[in-house]
Amino acid sequence: MSTVIKGARPYGEGDPVDVLIEDGVITGIGTVQAPEDAEVIDARGQVLLPGFVDLHTHLREPGREDTETIDSGSAAAALGGYTAVFAMANTDPVADNAVIVEHVWRRGQEVGLVDVHPVGAVTVGLKGEKLAELGTMANSQAGVKVFSDDGLCVADPLLMRRALEYSTALDVVIAQHAEEPRLTVGAQAHEGERAARLGYTGWPAAAEESIVARDCLLALHANARLHVCHVSTSGTADVLRWAKDRGTKVSAEVTPHHLLLTDERLATYDPVNKVNPPLRTESDAEKLRAALADGTIDCVATDHAPHAVQDKDTEWSAARPGMLGLQTALSIVTETMVRTGLLDWRGVARVMSERPAEIGNLADQGRPIAVGEPANLALVDPDAEWTVRGAELASIAANTPYEGMRLPGVVTATLLRGRITARDGKIG
Ligand code: NCD
Ligand code: ZN
Ligand code: ZN
Repeated sequence: MSTVIKGARPYGEGDPVDVLIEDGVITGIGTVQAPEDAEVIDARGQVLLPGFVDLHTHLREPGREDTETIDSGSAAAALGGYTAVFAMANTDPVADNAVIVEHVWRRGQEVGLVDVHPVGAVTVGLKGEKLAELGTMANSQAGVKVFSDDGLCVADPLLMRRALEYSTALDVVIAQHAEEPRLTVGAQAHEGERAARLGYTGWPAAAEESIVARDCLLALHANARLHVCHVSTSGTADVLRWAKDRGTKVSAEVTPHHLLLTDERLATYDPVNKVNPPLRTESDAEKLRAALADGTIDCVATDHAPHAVQDKDTEWSAARPGMLGLQTALSIVTETMVRTGLLDWRGVARVMSERPAEIGNLADQGRPIAVGEPANLALVDPDAEWTVRGAELASIAANTPYEGMRLPGVVTATLLRGRITARDGKIG
């Protein structure tokens, strides 16, 4: 089976070229001799990028299949330009053992739209008391490469230090949801003027920054790799800069929503805007965009967090935190980073594909667009726009904060090992 992508510009650079793909591998770039029966994708005016890699997705299977499944989440991922996603461990039951992570991995392969890499829990049941069997999960069929208690912070410094020490021997990475729980008891929104006016208990920036600083020091002393989930404050970016300057093996992600949205959204009272960590100030968002552009923050991760209507459409304090992200990520990055001139498409490839693939230790993702490389690709129309409708997204849940917004940047095709997984907004 072969496919030819006609007239695309790899990384949005240079003259349009044709790209020939045979048996899952790129076999020609430039003027290519395509077999007569090759599938043709007309890509004039479009940008060809390596398929996106999401280090932070919640697929809700097992346990909350009423909000998302590996099937529906894989579809959302493929439509969003993703060829690999990391599925967080805060399912029910928790992915803290080989049986669950192998189920998630196998189910992802059966669905076949995107590689679903299960994240293993750091502690048993996400309880923060006892380390889970990281080695068993790492050595399982799922080959777990990232461990996280996401949703909760590994708050105990001794436990976090042990997890970091074990991780070096296994060559895996610990991804921390940085939230000092003693500082966020009852927290509902970013601690500041807006939350105060509405009478919401504040979620202080220091609750994130203090854990990131602590963990950077623990990682440095253990010579371990640390990954910081969903960076939300400018102070965290400062801590990361300091830690990286000192040689700490720390990487970090920012979500599309923290790049675009701010706590101004609190005025709507709409819990679709409730997320953890909370939406911060415009000044934070601006500094996060700059930190992503200069590499202080390594990559974009969606923190795609589907929730049922009854868990979202309720009073603010009772609503679950989290928002959908897989199908809107490229557009939000286009809006906040490309249209502003902060990143070119080469930079988008770096933050949405290459760096996350390196951090997640995936050998076949985030590869150069070159002959001999696996054809994991995303094709993007940079000039097209679309209007977000939650009900039309592939996710079972519909909790998008971008409802009704017109956004730039449309993913027109996604290829996983040469197979078309999404095209013109449809699966396959
Ligand atoms: C996530 C979820 O719903 O699982 N929610 C969120 O607000 N981000 C958990 C998390 O990422 O911390
Ligand atoms: Zn989290
Ligand atoms: Zn999360």
